[in-house]
Amino acid sequence: MKHSDVLIIGGGIIGGSIAYHLAKSKVNVVILEQDRAGAHASRAAAGMLGAQVEMHQPGPLADVCLKSRSMFPELAEELREQTGLDIELNRSGLIKPARSEEEAAGLKERMKWQKAVWLDRKECLEKEKGLGEEVIGGLFFPEEFQVSAPRLTQALIRAAQQQGAELIEDCKVIDFCVENGRIRKVVTPHEEWAADTVVLATGAWTGIASRRLGLNLPVYPVKGESLALKTTRPSLNHTIFGNDVYIVPKANGEWIIGATEKVHQWDPGVTAEAVYRLIADASRYLPAVKELNISRMWASVRPGTPDRLPVIGRLETVDHCIVATGHFRNGILLSPWTGQVVTRLILGETEEECLPFSPRRFTG
Ligand code: GLY
Repeated sequence: MKHSDVLIIGGGIIGGSIAYHLAKSKVNVVILEQDRAGAHASRAAAGMLGAQVEMHQPGPLADVCLKSRSMFPELAEELREQTGLDIELNRSGLIKPARSEEEAAGLKERMKWQKAVWLDRKECLEKEKGLGEEVIGGLFFPEEFQVSAPRLTQALIRAAQQQGAELIEDCKVIDFCVENGRIRKVVTPHEEWAADTVVLATGAWTGIASRRLGLNLPVYPVKGESLALKTTRPSLNHTIFGNDVYIVPKANGEWIIGATEKVHQWDPGVTAEAVYRLIADASRYLPAVKELNISRMWASVRPGTPDRLPVIGRLETVDHCIVATGHFRNGILLSPWTGQVVTRLILGETEEECLPFSPRRFTG
């Protein structure tokens, strides 16, 4: 049987970030990934760091989202120095347009608890001249940056590997052997593993993994379909976050348009209805959308939870097992904070900050 001090199950953005922070702290760590690293939600994500725009109320989630967002500039530098990879941190900010007075009033309300700037239509057009006629103004979030999610995942894992972490791909965990409330063996088709700590960074697959441990964590897939348009003259600088649609301009000239939310759907297909709906919605904000060629389309599964909060912390019923999952729409954004907080938990520090996200709210 093989042994690792920490065994992370899941080589997506969350597993990668935990591995990176652990490796930095000189902890011996192995990642088991069922497919290829970052093959699922981490690659599908548009990379928005929507710590404000994706939050609808103040609270512990909004707090840690802001904290995690603030970690990106330093992380980008660190990863570039260590790996030579550029995570394409784009600091232009994000506009949330309003198309009616009612929407505008709702957005202005947010300024009571969120740092943002109201722009009238003329000011919006000064920032983005291609905005559609329906846009009457918008809320500007100057610190809602964005990154390349696939690059970030790759850079975290590469940096972790450079500091001693091991990544094993195409390695599906098929069983756990639990004795006296502790995982004695993690079973894969090729070999068995023992570890001082097992981390489930299993994203949408956490419900399945937890059932193998005799638990029933309610983490389920929420499929998102997205597409990319290819622009020859990149005339969009800011992310545009509309109602049920966003448009994110990427460094390679693509505009990513996303994303649907389909609960309990695993299939990787993109429906014609989804493409139609995303293009129709996006073109109300940016009419140029209709003129551009579609370069790609894809779908993947976010890890959803009933209360829309992540699940981070030690399991009460299984010793030495930590879960870090359920990040739903905020996995890229929350990856630095999650990596840091889980590393602290493993190093034996108490982490007040992750108490609101404890798995105990589901396991009793
Ligand atoms: N954070 C955007 C999404 O999950 O679609």
